[in-house]
Order: sequence, then structure tokens, then C-alpha cells
Amino acid sequence: MLKGKRVTLKPLEMGDIDEIMKHINDVDVNHFISRETPITRTEEEQWVKEMCSGGKYPKDIVFGIYVSDGKCKDDQRMIGTCGLHNIHWFSRFGILGISIFDKSVWRKGYGTESLNLLLEYVFAVLGLHRVKSCVYAYNEGSLALHKKLGFVEEGRERSATYKRGEYHNVVLFGLLEDEYRERIKSI
Ligand SMILES: CC(C)(COP(=O)(O)OP(=O)(O)OC[C@H]1O[C@@H](n2cnc3c(N)ncnc32)[C@H](O)[C@@H]1OP(=O)(O)O)[C@@H](O)C(=O)NCCC(=O)NCCS
Repeated sequence: MLKGKRVTLKPLEMGDIDEIMKHINDVDVNHFISRETPITRTEEEQWVKEMCSGGKYPKDIVFGIYVSDGKCKDDQRMIGTCGLHNIHWFSRFGILGISIFDKSVWRKGYGTESLNLLLEYVFAVLGLHRVKSCVYAYNEGSLALHKKLGFVEEGRERSATYKRGEYHNVVLFGLLEDEYRERIKSI
């Protein structure tokens, strides 16, 4: 469990599926991720099972993002997920993923706090060297978030995704461990 001021990251569990299914097919959220067709419960169960398979050197490490904002009877509620995928333990890198699937809480700083917790874990605990991330060029929120966290734009894949009738570029970001440490020194 990774605990911040307002956000707690807890390892994803099969028990999170009910909450995830409430939001998973929201077209406004899916507009920003690579998903066009409906996600069924069966498919989601398989994905969560794969993400939770664990082990000493897992390929994926995914957390549920929890906040206490008084919107449910439980103390904390899940608003999204974030994690690292396709981890390469020899070259020490992984690919970042984040989705705050409750869109009513976008732009409240939860994405920033979640990724600050995740990056600290990735660089200080796992000892990885590099985090890569891919963002659709029209995703203003995610672009702003990556720049705020010190990610460096390393290139653009042209016309790499087709969304709502148009092709769009994909922005490729990277963050190295020394760049991360430099940024947090100045906070
Ligand atoms: C992208 C996402 C993770 C951002 O999380 P968030 O909690 O909304 O972002 P934050 O509130 O922490 O904002 C981070 C910065 O981005 C800016 N920002 C956020 N949304 C923005 C938007 N739509 N347009 C412009 N800037 C935006 C904020 O102002 C903030 O910068 P500041 O502190 O300098 O003001 C979240 O909106 C989300 O999950 N969206 C749907 C799925 C998605 O896009 N995933 C990422 C795929 S690469």
C-alpha cells in the first residue's frame, strides 16, 4: 500500500471488479485510452487476474487509486487505476498506465498525487531506471500531467491512432531515474 495525503494506492484485487465495471465502458474515459469496443465482465476478470498474478519479478504492477472524499459510505472509494506494465527487469524499465475512470474527479490533483506515489515506488523501491509513457496528442490533461511530472517528450508517432473519425499523433514520453530525483529535490 502506498499512502499519500489524499490518495492511497492499493494493489489491484479481483474484488475490485464490481467497482471497475461501473465505469469501464464510459466513452468519455475510453476516448483517451486504446479501447473502442465494449469491455465485458469476463474480459475484465481475465485482465485483472493477469494484472494480479504477482510473483517476485512480475510483468505488470497495478494499483487501485483510492480517495476519501465522503462520496460513499465506506471510508475510501476507488476512482481509477495506475501502474507499470511490461516491466523489463534486466534493462530496468516499464510502461506507465493511468486511468481515473470516475470522470467527476478529474482535475482535482488526484492524477498528480497518484503518479508521484507510483514514481517514488518505481525508482526508490523497485530501483528501475526508466519509465516510458504514450499519450494521445489530443489528451490535454495527460500531456499537462506528464510535463508537470518532468517527463521528456522523446518523439511523436504520426497518425498512430484513429479516434472519432480522425487519425491522431501519439506523443512518446520518457522519465529517467536521475531526472526524477532532480525534480523531487527541488520540491
Ligand atoms: C489524465 C488524467 C490521469 C489526469 O489526472 P487528473 O487527476 O485529472 O490530473 P491533475 O488534476 O493531477 O492535473 C495535472 C495537471 O494537468 C492539468 N490538467 C488536467 N486536466 C487538464 C485538461 N483537461 N486540460 C489542460 N490541463 C489539464 C492540471 O491543471 C494540472 O496542472 P497544474 O497543477 O499545473 O494546474 C485523468 O484525467 C484521466 O485518467 N483521464 C482519463 C484516462 C486518461 O487520459 N489516461 C491517461 C492515458 S495516457
